Amino acid sequence: MAIDKHAPIGIIDSGVGGISVWAEIVRQLPFESVVYWADSAHCPYGGRTQEEIIRLVRPGVETLIRAGVKLIVIACNTATTAAIATLRAEWPQLPFVGLEPAVKPAARATRSGIVGVLGTAYTVHSEMFRRTAEKYASGVQIIATAGNGLVELVESGREETPEAERLLRQYIEPMLTAGADQLVLACTHFPLLRATIRRVIGPRSVAVIDPAPAIARHTADLLREHNLLTDRTTPGERRFMSSGTPADTERLRQQAQRYENTTWQQNDR
Ligand code: DGL
Repeated sequence: MAIDKHAPIGIIDSGVGGISVWAEIVRQLPFESVVYWADSAHCPYGGRTQEEIIRLVRPGVETLIRAGVKLIVIACNTATTAAIATLRAEWPQLPFVGLEPAVKPAARATRSGIVGVLGTAYTVHSEMFRRTAEKYASGVQIIATAGNGLVELVESGREETPEAERLLRQYIEPMLTAGADQLVLACTHFPLLRATIRRVIGPRSVAVIDPAPAIARHTADLLREHNLLTDRTTPGERRFMSSGTPADTERLRQQAQRYENTTWQQNDR
């Protein structure tokens, strides 16, 4: 059966992090309907095994398929790394967009030759990350750090607390001291910490790389390629679902509203 171009885009993450990607998608594709699913009951994914992550993401994909989506964005570096190959093999008709650490643009842009990458333990210790770094950043020094504890802070709304600042300082300061001039946010939860990250960086000239705008552009390109862009000219619908409690789903909605209404410095995009 042909996929309906007016069907919604599905977005999936372990929790609220994928809202950083959701916000760019609704900004760039305002006429598309979007359904967001978060595995709030099992967040975080970052310390889990590949088998566990695949087992957890699959019901999310099934829920989005039941919601009638035409494409799924895995708005989670961890789930992309662990599960996207399996998902593509299981649903060959459905286009998937995944997130990989934005090492390539960082390696191109660095002047110091040193790039910091902050991701989950799963992502930064993965074979996929090692291969990406080898392929796109040869001759560049990559300092990759697992931002343990950060996802939990974002999930509990503690993005701008002294605790968040202390942890971020602990992870980012050594990268900056070593000379990194690019900081790749390799977990979709981390752009939600942007204000605190900026405070930690202070006046130092460091580019913070959030892949969300590029992912939204790639999603648009893929829809166009498959002839799946809606031709409606009225705002799309927005739905939020989660494996957690109604309060978790409400938090997604609130975080989405808050994040969408935040304006960032141009050079932060
Ligand atoms: N937001 C996710 C990522 O991009 C997952 C974080 C987690 O659940 O540990 O990696």
